[in-house]
Amino acid sequence: METAKRKIRSAHIGMKFGMSHIEGAMSYGADIAAICDCDEENLRFAGERYGIPEEKRFTDYHDIVNMDGIDIVTVAVPDQLHSRISCELMRAGKNVLCEKPLALKREDCEEIIRAQRETGMKFMVGQICRFTPAFEKAKELIDSGAVGEIYFAESEYAHDYMCFVDTWRGDPLRHGVIGGGCHAVDLLRWLVGDPQEVFAYGTHRLLPTVEYDDATIAVLKFDENTAGKVFVSTGCKRDYTMRTLIYGTKGTIICDNTSPSMTLYTAGKDGPPHEPQTIEVEVNNHNAAREFEVFADAILNGEPVTTDAVEGAKTVAVCRAIVDSSKLGTPVKPEYDFS
Ligand SMILES: NC(=O)c1ccc[n+]([C@@H]2O[C@H](COP(=O)([O-])OP(=O)(O)OC[C@H]3O[C@@H](n4cnc5c(N)ncnc54)[C@H](O)[C@@H]3O)[C@@H](O)[C@H]2O)c1
Repeated sequence: METAKRKIRSAHIGMKFGMSHIEGAMSYGADIAAICDCDEENLRFAGERYGIPEEKRFTDYHDIVNMDGIDIVTVAVPDQLHSRISCELMRAGKNVLCEKPLALKREDCEEIIRAQRETGMKFMVGQICRFTPAFEKAKELIDSGAVGEIYFAESEYAHDYMCFVDTWRGDPLRHGVIGGGCHAVDLLRWLVGDPQEVFAYGTHRLLPTVEYDDATIAVLKFDENTAGKVFVSTGCKRDYTMRTLIYGTKGTIICDNTSPSMTLYTAGKDGPPHEPQTIEVEVNNHNAAREFEVFADAILNGEPVTTDAVEGAKTVAVCRAIVDSSKLGTPVKPEYDFS
């Protein structure tokens, strides 16, 4: 018999991508206590879309910081503000689900970790690819041993930013590898492990008005016998995709975040041909419902959050190492010590 869950009361800051968090909360049956955006038009649009009355709409996020009786606050504002707003919320006794990347600078990642440890509040970074059905299935297959030991894995983040370059996404600090490539890096960290060293090259020809490279290719060394690759393109001329390949000693997985199926090859008994198995998957590359559910359940059940602040910081550390390597022309070891 299912135990009745206590009702979660949520509040939501940032009303563009952040509307997906409202949908996640609604699908969980949460009580939406407040929404916030400093842009009145974006706030009005979200309020009307989700039927949230005017008295629950705020233009200053401090009204949510100071509100009582809130279980979860979701934060979907420009990356540069993640640390400041998340830390204020946790210090005011709020559990926080904050968008990826955790933060753009190491010191801001450390500030979030410190605030979480000092307050004991729960914090989750929205590395949403961990809830994408095809990637969840890939993780399940890997953990079941279906592909044996992984010796090579690659992922990519290919997303045309042409219409975003004049926004906060064009800030040199918000390098495409950190802002968007963090999805592919986090996915490989989750599926394979922490790379010990990276080596990267960057090119710059598609987004001339931004200071950072618009394409980067990074080779990753996980251990002596496991290598990987991440490709990030923020100027590509194609629709958003994160094609991902996992090569193991017993099989191979080919999947992405936008296809209705994925392929699993397992070794033929006497060598090739290796029979491909097509696995149908739901296309849901922003599975905000599952993400909210995992966080809310962790709060209600007093369980740890798997994609916590340290996880987010480790992903940013790899992204930073990739950016540094492409500038320096040498291999770089990510720094994972956040003690
Ligand atoms: N998980 C994903 O796949 C995914 C996809 C898109 C965006 N994101 C992340 O979500 C966050 C938001 O991205 P976006 O695309 O919605 O950006 P956006 O610029 O389109 O929207 C940001 C919203 O936040 C509001 N805002 C800015 N500063 C604010 C403040 N101080 N107080 C209240 N509201 C404020 C803006 O008015 C705007 O409505 C970013 O961190 C981004 O990296 C994640």
